Amino acid sequence: MNEDKIGFIGAGSLAECLISALVKKDYNNIIASRRTQSELDRLSKQYRIKTTTDNIEVLNDSKYVILCVKPGDDLNGVLEEIKSSKIDYSEKVFITIAATVRKKQLTNILGQNTKIGIVIPTVGSIYGEGVSIYSSNNTEIDDKIEAIFGAGGYVQKVDEDKVIQSAQGACLPGWDSRYVLKNLEMLRKYFPDNELSKKFIINNLRGVANMLEQNESDDLQALKNYSLKVGKPGKSITYQGIELYEKNGFYKAIEKSHELVGEIMKKY
Ligand SMILES: NC(=O)c1ccc[n+]([C@@H]2O[C@H](COP(=O)([O-])OP(=O)(O)OC[C@H]3O[C@@H](n4cnc5c(N)ncnc54)[C@H](OP(=O)(O)O)[C@@H]3O)[C@@H](O)[C@H]2O)c1
Repeated sequence: MNEDKIGFIGAGSLAECLISALVKKDYNNIIASRRTQSELDRLSKQYRIKTTTDNIEVLNDSKYVILCVKPGDDLNGVLEEIKSSKIDYSEKVFITIAATVRKKQLTNILGQNTKIGIVIPTVGSIYGEGVSIYSSNNTEIDDKIEAIFGAGGYVQKVDEDKVIQSAQGACLPGWDSRYVLKNLEMLRKYFPDNELSKKFIINNLRGVANMLEQNESDDLQALKNYSLKVGKPGKSITYQGIELYEKNGFYKAIEKSHELVGEIMKKY
């Protein structure tokens, strides 16, 4: 076992985001597995990491084993495979990024003394702007969890319940980028300068982010005030657009997406 090696089991989208973040920080001591050989070939070429179709090779080779398969049958199958292997995994650290999974689901199969972390990262990790929140059953492993996931952005330890509920936050990169996509499409339709359209989008998003970061009072009110600087009620063009958001169910759709995740998460 390599004391520093990080192993990814289930090298799909999210694992790739994390691998990409680690490699950008010059961390190459990585092994990753999945079943599709062509995807493994791409990953090893792109990130210069070791890959394998054999999950037990990942287990054998690495100290930190990050389980990136889907929750349910996929995760249970991998846990059973680990449990029934001949490898002594008592000194290893298992970290799952599978949404909705609780620590006891892992310790029930791998043993009560096994060191476990549950983490929900976001895809923003690829660009160093992810948010990872986690819970662990042993404080000795927290520094390492923070180092691994910190390579991709912000990381914070929270209660287990908060990790489970954080799926809402993990959906934001998917939702927010759709909103940005629609605005960029429309800018390109009526303002046919692609580079400038992109500049508008990037700087406006940064402006909103900086405003929120620098704000020290009521965040919701600060956002409304920021919007009102250009979207004054009345005949301003910006405000007429804001009214169309309301009339056409834009805010309602956002509410519904959040409520959907909230309802799903109640089951866990
Ligand atoms: N997407 C998000 O924004 C997000 C955010 C936070 C957490 N998560 C969690 O992250 C996990 C992965 O999500 P994802 O979006 O990255 O899914 P994904 O792209 O489908 O990745 C999962 C990978 O697991 C591999 N796999 C399945 N069974 C396997 C097995 N027995 N052994 C080895 N590899 C196996 C699959 O590849 P093969 O078919 O080639 O084996 C697949 O590429 C999920 O548990 C999800 O809940 C996702």
